[in-house]
Amino acid sequence: MKAEGGRMKAEGGRRLDGWIGVWSSIPAQGARVLTLSRHNPCMRFQAPRGTEDCLPGQSDRWIWLEGEFRALASLYGYKEIRTPTFEDTELFVRSSGETSDIVSKQMYSFQDKGERNITLKPEGTAPAIRALIEHNLCPQGSVCRLSYVTPIFRYERPQKGRLRESHQVGLELIGSPSARADAEIIEATVRFYERIGIDEVEVSLNSIGRDECRAAFRAAILKHMGGYLSGQPAEVQERAEKNPLRLLDSKDPDVQAALLGLPPITDFLESDSKERFKDLQRMLHEAGVKVRVAPDIVRGLDYYTETVFEVQSTRLGSQSALCGGGRYDNLVKELGGSATPAVGVAMGIERALIVLEDMQQGPGPHNPDAFIVIATPAAKETCHRLARELRTAGLVILMDYDDRSMKSQLKMADRESARFAVLIGDDELAKGVATVRTLASSEQREVPLAGLSQVLRGHS
Ligand code: HAM
Repeated sequence: MKAEGGRMKAEGGRRLDGWIGVWSSIPAQGARVLTLSRHNPCMRFQAPRGTEDCLPGQSDRWIWLEGEFRALASLYGYKEIRTPTFEDTELFVRSSGETSDIVSKQMYSFQDKGERNITLKPEGTAPAIRALIEHNLCPQGSVCRLSYVTPIFRYERPQKGRLRESHQVGLELIGSPSARADAEIIEATVRFYERIGIDEVEVSLNSIGRDECRAAFRAAILKHMGGYLSGQPAEVQERAEKNPLRLLDSKDPDVQAALLGLPPITDFLESDSKERFKDLQRMLHEAGVKVRVAPDIVRGLDYYTETVFEVQSTRLGSQSALCGGGRYDNLVKELGGSATPAVGVAMGIERALIVLEDMQQGPGPHNPDAFIVIATPAAKETCHRLARELRTAGLVILMDYDDRSMKSQLKMADRESARFAVLIGDDELAKGVATVRTLASSEQREVPLAGLSQVLRGHS
């Protein structure tokens, strides 16, 4: 095996005597490793754990939802940004924070062949801000609105609504410190959900104040949790000390029990943050947005300041957050730009689709308008010409190219859920008509070819 491995190419995979070998390097140890696996020609592959194929019957709902998001975003003047699938690992460490779950447990990180540290993006905000700084999209004093539709990658324990590759739509409003900007982001979020049929949305809203407020709150958490932490392993203590706020995200019942009695972060707000928070609630009330003040929401990413919010849905089970967002006034500077305030939101696409399905809302699949059936060989050319003309007129038309019998063509039309079968044979050719059959009812009638597109559109 060693000898076979030795003959392999330095990089990539190559098949040898029933084995596949892949070289990879561990630069820290100056070592290279050859991983061999048995080549099994009968092996059937599956999508990796925590990922999902979006199948043809489902993609119509995705396309519709993304279209509704883009339409909504453009009403508020957001322009779409598309950033790479991977970025420098350091971008996420610096933005989300070393102690966040994302950085400490969930990133898909690797070294590329040039020994760069790379991470598949676990969220869309840091890449958008990296691009904003790199391309100077928001010069000092201006306001920039960015939207995105993106996959994200997080190594999580998969369950309903929690995937390792999932998708988000998001909005980022950069350059305005005003509570009006927070209100716009939150209102646009709610309008998006209303637009796709998820109404009665309630926003869970909190303020985590400025740096001073969080510093005081952190000290209060450590004091309150001192007894509990002293009995914990050193790494738990160390993590808590680095960022006590993370204790608040813990699902551990013992941590939750120990947290009981801790005063909420809102008790530590500076007076101007309190004012700002009140203003925001008033603006949202005026906009008809239902809000619940939720002092327990602090969010799991380090970049937030002042406003934080989530929208939950009881239809999602334990993964109840449909979306999350907030203000992040320090991030642009943290990533190398000039001090610039910003606020944003990201909404999970899979989670919105789960809720819609549960509500039996959203569009059905986009089925073909008609299947043209070649009833006799003489009609073939006419049928192909007709298909071209009807597609040019904007109708979705299918037909058979493999000389199947009329019966099999009709079966295909059924399988494809076409609305109509359009049959043309010798009789129809002679009369200049088509026989149009409504597949749901099997009713049929003759229609002159010239009027066909109107009938298929359901206009006559
Ligand atoms: P986040 O709360 O980590 O925030 O994610 C936002 C939303 O993405 C979640 O509420 C959920 O709907 C969806 N999501 C996240 N992880 C998964 C997963 N593993 N499986 C399925 N859906 C998931 C952010 O990502 C911030 N960048 C939001 C933001 C934008 N803050 C300011 N601007």
